[in-house]
Amino acid sequence: MINTPKTTHSEWSSRFAFILAATGSAVGLGNIWKFPYITGQNGGGAFVLVYLGCVLALGIPIMIAEIMLGRRGHLSPVNSMQSLAIEAGADSRWRYLGWLGMIAGFLILAYYSVIAGWSMAYISKAFFGSFFSSDASDIKNLFDDLMQSPIQQIFWHTVFMLITLQVVMRGVKGGLEKAVQLLMPALFFILLILVGYAMTSGAYNEGIKFLFSPDFSKINANAVLTAMGHAFFTLSLGMGSIMVYGSYLPKHISIAKTTFVIAGADTIVALLAGIAIFPLVFANQLEVGSGPGLIFQTLPLAFGKMGGGWLFGVLFFVLLFLAALTSSISLIEPTIAWLEESHQWDRKKACIWAGSGCWLLGIAVVFSFNIWSGHKLFDKNLFELLDYLTANLMLPLGGLAIAWFAGRIMKTRDSAQELEMPESDYKIWQFLIQYVSPAAVFLVFLHVLGVF
Ligand code: PFF
Repeated sequence: MINTPKTTHSEWSSRFAFILAATGSAVGLGNIWKFPYITGQNGGGAFVLVYLGCVLALGIPIMIAEIMLGRRGHLSPVNSMQSLAIEAGADSRWRYLGWLGMIAGFLILAYYSVIAGWSMAYISKAFFGSFFSSDASDIKNLFDDLMQSPIQQIFWHTVFMLITLQVVMRGVKGGLEKAVQLLMPALFFILLILVGYAMTSGAYNEGIKFLFSPDFSKINANAVLTAMGHAFFTLSLGMGSIMVYGSYLPKHISIAKTTFVIAGADTIVALLAGIAIFPLVFANQLEVGSGPGLIFQTLPLAFGKMGGGWLFGVLFFVLLFLAALTSSISLIEPTIAWLEESHQWDRKKACIWAGSGCWLLGIAVVFSFNIWSGHKLFDKNLFELLDYLTANLMLPLGGLAIAWFAGRIMKTRDSAQELEMPESDYKIWQFLIQYVSPAAVFLVFLHVLGVF
């Protein structure tokens, strides 16, 4: 006999609170650190167009499905999937989809917190003027010093983890909701200031042209697949964060309309981050295709050379920190909700245990940049391995399973009742979720596995 626990969780106090929280989850290091550098590496405008297409055809339908499953299950992802499978007359082992997501969130948070720690270290570096009168090699040394110092990285990783747990410990209304109500407006405000700075001080036209004029000769299969994978990561799909947030969503709120707002806001933030960054990169004749170091090595060089660079440098890394924080609370929430439900732990105990586990794994990630950098598995250090395993394998697999369950296992009557869309819109969603999304995710998956 399988026991599905009854819900004990609270709900968001309004539609707006849910939108802020889900947008907070979506907007993160993916938008400000990853999107600009992969756009830079893949030639700009045409890549942006492909990415927008992926958000529309793949991201939005799967996000609608994930929120719907959460709200109908009304429990943590593990228990929601189990009770929905039972409702649909399917195998209760669908709960392992919840497990996959929970574990992915745990693994992502371990390395996410380390990178968020770098952004905190850079707030202090920017504040104490480390970017000034520096040339490219000084800035590179600054980054290398941080990489080679386990103590510095562990310190910032610990501080970031403690802040995350402080928020999560206070619960859905008193912690998550309060934090996003404060942090998200601050994040948008800082982003707009930085865009204004780029418009007035950077090579604005060149930056805009790079982002928005498509040159399709730069697009190859790899770029298309990178854009698809990124649509997943940036919208926090495939791992239960959005599902658990959906489980706190009151019944009367329209899922589809809300999803468009969240995906729209996430996309706008990514584009604005590009608009804030590329004009500065071009104004200083720096390399757009420099990869993951774009934010930590290229941009500080620009700030060091420009008028007002001190203030805007500090603001930029504060922005990165805020974005990471509102995502990290969503990464651990599926685990906390599950520990509360299935083990009757209180939030504090759940946060202490889950948080300590993530923190310890994060320390191993820190070591992978220095004392353990020689230890490799499949030619990857621990950081690269976790990133690869989660972003490239677990999220697409989770997304594929979510699309499959919502489109093919769950009864049409139930999903139609939960979504309450006009019939023609429902049919479009159903077509996308039954055919287009699984096929697209499957392609990403094959590519990642090196089949083509
Ligand atoms: N969407 C976040 C970002 O773009 O940085 C990352 C993320 C958060 C992925 C939460 C997955 C997740 F569940």
